[in-house]
Amino acid sequence: MCAAGRRWGRRQRALLWAVLLAAWEAAWGQLRYSVPEEMPKGSFVGDVAKDLGLQLPALRDRGVRIVSEGSTQYFSLHGKTGHLVTAERIDREQLCESVQQCVLRCELIVEGQMQVYRIEVEITDINDNTPSFKEVVMEERISEMTAPGSRFPLAEAHDLDSGGNSILSYDLSGDEHFSLAVQAGPGGDQRPELVLAKALDREEAAFHELVLRASDGGDPARTGTARIRVTVVDANDNAPVFSQAEYTVRVPEDVPVGSTLVTVTANDADEGVNGQVKYSLKKSPGKALKILQLDSETGEITLLQSLDFEEGNSYELEVQGRDGSGLSDTTKVTISVTDINDNAPKISMRSALSEISEDVPSGTIVALLHVYDRDSGANGEVLCSLDGDVPFRLEKSLDDYYRVVTARELDREQVSEYNVTVRAADGGSPALQSSAVLCLRVLDVNDNAPVFAEEGYSARVAENNAAGALVLTVRATDADWGQNARVRYRLGEGRVRGAPLSSYVSVQAETGALYALRSLDYEQVRELRLWVLAEDGGAPALSSNVSVLVQIVDENDNAPQVLYPAPAAALGSGGAWSGVELAPRWSEPGALVAKVVAVDADAGQNAWLSYELAKATEPGLFRVGLHSGEVRTARSPLARDAARQSLVVVVKDHGRPALSATATLSVVLAKSVAELLAELGSAADEAAAAAGEPAGSLTRWLVLAVAAVSCLFLAFLLLLLALRLRRWHRQQLLPPASGALRGVPVSHFVGIDGVRAFLQSYSHDVSLTADSRKSQLRFSASASCCDTLPMIFFSSPDVWEFPLFSGSAVFLTAHVHG
Ligand SMILES: *[C@@H]1O[C@H](CO)[C@@H](O)[C@H](O)[C@H]1NC(C)=O
Ligand SMILES: *[C@@H]1O[C@H](CO)[C@@H](O)[C@H](O)[C@H]1NC(C)=O
Repeated sequence: MCAAGRRWGRRQRALLWAVLLAAWEAAWGQLRYSVPEEMPKGSFVGDVAKDLGLQLPALRDRGVRIVSEGSTQYFSLHGKTGHLVTAERIDREQLCESVQQCVLRCELIVEGQMQVYRIEVEITDINDNTPSFKEVVMEERISEMTAPGSRFPLAEAHDLDSGGNSILSYDLSGDEHFSLAVQAGPGGDQRPELVLAKALDREEAAFHELVLRASDGGDPARTGTARIRVTVVDANDNAPVFSQAEYTVRVPEDVPVGSTLVTVTANDADEGVNGQVKYSLKKSPGKALKILQLDSETGEITLLQSLDFEEGNSYELEVQGRDGSGLSDTTKVTISVTDINDNAPKISMRSALSEISEDVPSGTIVALLHVYDRDSGANGEVLCSLDGDVPFRLEKSLDDYYRVVTARELDREQVSEYNVTVRAADGGSPALQSSAVLCLRVLDVNDNAPVFAEEGYSARVAENNAAGALVLTVRATDADWGQNARVRYRLGEGRVRGAPLSSYVSVQAETGALYALRSLDYEQVRELRLWVLAEDGGAPALSSNVSVLVQIVDENDNAPQVLYPAPAAALGSGGAWSGVELAPRWSEPGALVAKVVAVDADAGQNAWLSYELAKATEPGLFRVGLHSGEVRTARSPLARDAARQSLVVVVKDHGRPALSATATLSVVLAKSVAELLAELGSAADEAAAAAGEPAGSLTRWLVLAVAAVSCLFLAFLLLLLALRLRRWHRQQLLPPASGALRGVPVSHFVGIDGVRAFLQSYSHDVSLTADSRKSQLRFSASASCCDTLPMIFFSSPDVWEFPLFSGSAVFLTAHVHG
């Protein structure tokens, strides 16, 4: 069915044509209807029954059917009403996509009449499709340099509907830079175009978002949209710009190699290659090139080599930043290096002694040294000192020069070598320091005398030593060095018993060994006192001495020597008899008969004598005191005892082995002096006879001589007595205060009392021996009465004492033997 159109002319014309066609078709048994698409199922299409003039009951009875050409039955006949209705929902765009007029055909068959009617149904379009773009988002790339007014074709939208329901108009929204132009295509289609209305700037806006809308001509109109993304393509319209016109950095000189000192940055507003800045050094000193490196990509300036303030304290560079298209900017980079205390002071010995004599005066220059520090400021100020307690000090000379001088006197014997450490420290924080060692040897001066290990030496040497025996060794050391310390020994001068000491001992010069040169005899020399000198080899030489005492130790090398009675062997050729002692027959037991006197030249035990009775004519009559040597009667002599008794006394010392001697005593037992003389006379005669000489004449001469001597001596004594008496008498007359002898006890003078006391002794022997060994002259004096006591005192072999004797000598014997 035709609806009323907006344009009347056309509609009327169509209606007219439809009426004519229907009439024509009816005449030819053909029906034509029109129905809009998308009608629900069962929608009325046309009243077939009425149009064909068929009776409704007839329709039902006669069997009427609708047959379509295709497989799908779009229409059906409503039996009750005889209306043609839609059997399916019909989509025009699906059935006839590109056909302007969409007509479906079907046949109505009336079976009872055997008639066929053709029915054509035109499907009319409704605005059921919206315009659509193939791509919902469109990308456009437009250079920022593009001139305004340029056009860029856009994709068209499509609408499946036909006629007025298809595309009618486009419009654009979103950005002032763009506008829309629509061109009519050759087929009358609309072609939208994007027009650049205003110049683009990528740096301002790199993207633009637009919305393109397409509207169809339906009522109501449907619209479809697409987004247009416009990317502004960069053009190199910006030069790089450094962030700072000048970069200034201060770096300490000890920054490690490889560190980044500064990073220069240039910004380029452009994009891509146009915005990529490469850095390069435009102007730089060659020195800086070796030390610094510029990274062309990042602009980092890194350190290639370590910095040294002392070599360069500032570097100036000019860095250029250039983008991909050659636009550039430059900047100045100043790197100033700050000093770090990285240089230790340097000490150099300009001149130094290696040896110094120990006697140099204090203040002697030993070394000259120079100190230097490369750092600046406080870091370069150097302070010098000496290490340890050394006898040296530092003196400042010129600016950086120091002198090492001795501070006091040196002593090689204490310290022979010095390692003087000179230390220099700078004023940095922390301070750096360095040191130099000055090796100094102290040379020796002969300033030390040899020193003996002991204050005095002593040694004991047994007598009878072998000649050349080592006695002792002295040792002296000298603190000096080398020749100055070479000690030589020698013997100090001296004499022993008139002979030079050097004939007794000698000292070996090198070793200090003291040797006895001869066999020493204790009986001659008891000790040797000597000096040993030690002298060093210096010039002048120094020496010292030490006392050495050599004590000679006794050995039992001397047998006891019987002094009384004279040994038989010592009496020369006539030694058949020895001393004859008198013992009165009336003697009491224990009466002293004689005393054996013996000496031993040795000392101590070796000279300690003991006496024993070895043989006697009448055993038991006499006994001998073990240590006194006194021969005493053991009992009273009897009448039957022989008148002449012979006794042998053994004298023994206590040496090891002991040495001994014998003494033979003749004792005459007599009743009276006459008998005694008779006995003695016979004994003398025997002796004289043995000597081959008339005994009587010799005895007479001897008796005469002794008597004369005794008389002379008596006269001398009397004279002495008289003199003494006279002096004593005069002293009594003198005033007591005068005289040199005042206060001295009287008993100190030899007086009459002393003489008397001596005279009272019973018996005395006077022995006078010039040399006890060589010649002996003996006077034997016996008292007339009971006892006989020989008295001889030896204080030393060389000195004699004369005991006084009584004048009443009864019998005298004298032996002279040479
Ligand atoms: C001094 O130094 C040397 C080596 O340099 C060393 O042999 C010597 O023993 C040192 N002397 C002293 C007294 O330290
Ligand atoms: C021993 O030395 C002292 C000084 O120490 C000296 O007086 C004396 O004379 C010296 N004696 C000898 C025997 O040289």
